[in-house]
Amino acid sequence: MAKRLHPRSAVAQRTAGITLDHAAPVYDWLAPLMTLGSEHRLHKQVVARLALDRPADVLDIGCGTGTLTRQIYDALPADAPRRVCGVDAAEAMIAVAQKKAGARPGLAFAAALAEELPYPDGSFDRVLSTFFFHHLNYELKVKSLAEIARVLRPGGQAAILDVDVPYSFFGQICAWSGFWLFHQAEIAENIRGKLRAALDESPWRGRWQIASRHSGYLSLFTMVKPQEKQP
Ligand SMILES: C[S@@+](CC[C@H](N)C(=O)[O-])C[C@H]1O[C@@H](n2cnc3c(N)ncnc32)[C@H](O)[C@@H]1O
Repeated sequence: MAKRLHPRSAVAQRTAGITLDHAAPVYDWLAPLMTLGSEHRLHKQVVARLALDRPADVLDIGCGTGTLTRQIYDALPADAPRRVCGVDAAEAMIAVAQKKAGARPGLAFAAALAEELPYPDGSFDRVLSTFFFHHLNYELKVKSLAEIARVLRPGGQAAILDVDVPYSFFGQICAWSGFWLFHQAEIAENIRGKLRAALDESPWRGRWQIASRHSGYLSLFTMVKPQEKQP
């Protein structure tokens, strides 16, 4: 595995994903800047897409400081028990998320890898990730997509918001600026359509769609796990 410039926590050291222990103290300041002020609007799109008006067990992968994870918890009906989990490989991110969570019974964060989710098969109704897949190389994208399929219940839904093939000049500039700024090959992969290719190489082949496009370079991918066939 390539030597990293930044210190990485023990869990983060087990993945080739780009982990952000070092950014945890400033992430909540930086994220709105890096999305040109649209982070909140984009998160709202994901929440709307997940149809959280009825009780559901939800998993947020690569949750960072847990801003969206908390929003999802708050969107679920308050008159039923709630179970919302957030995982991130960076233990420092999880520490911030846990601190921010406050008194929300059923909201839990864990330091864990997307490619080896620590949950049994079929344990969630919804799985989501935002701004996470451009932190994974191609192999980890495919593995993580398979893990999403595994932990979802039949009929469960997944939503992924991430960098994708740009569809406008403005989007080209934003997406390639991100690549040049961070020197992150994984961003270039997404721009070149590798997330779509990974979906096609995963259990989601033929089962994913692009529900909406944003900011010239982001896509909201949605998937539904098929119901089990009755004997
Ligand atoms: C850009 S942040 C996104 C945070 C949050 N989802 C958001 O929308 O703001 C990407 C996160 O992915 C995490 N990450 C990278 N590789 C990972 C892996 N293999 N498993 C779990 N998390 C990982 C990083 O530590 C980082 O916190």
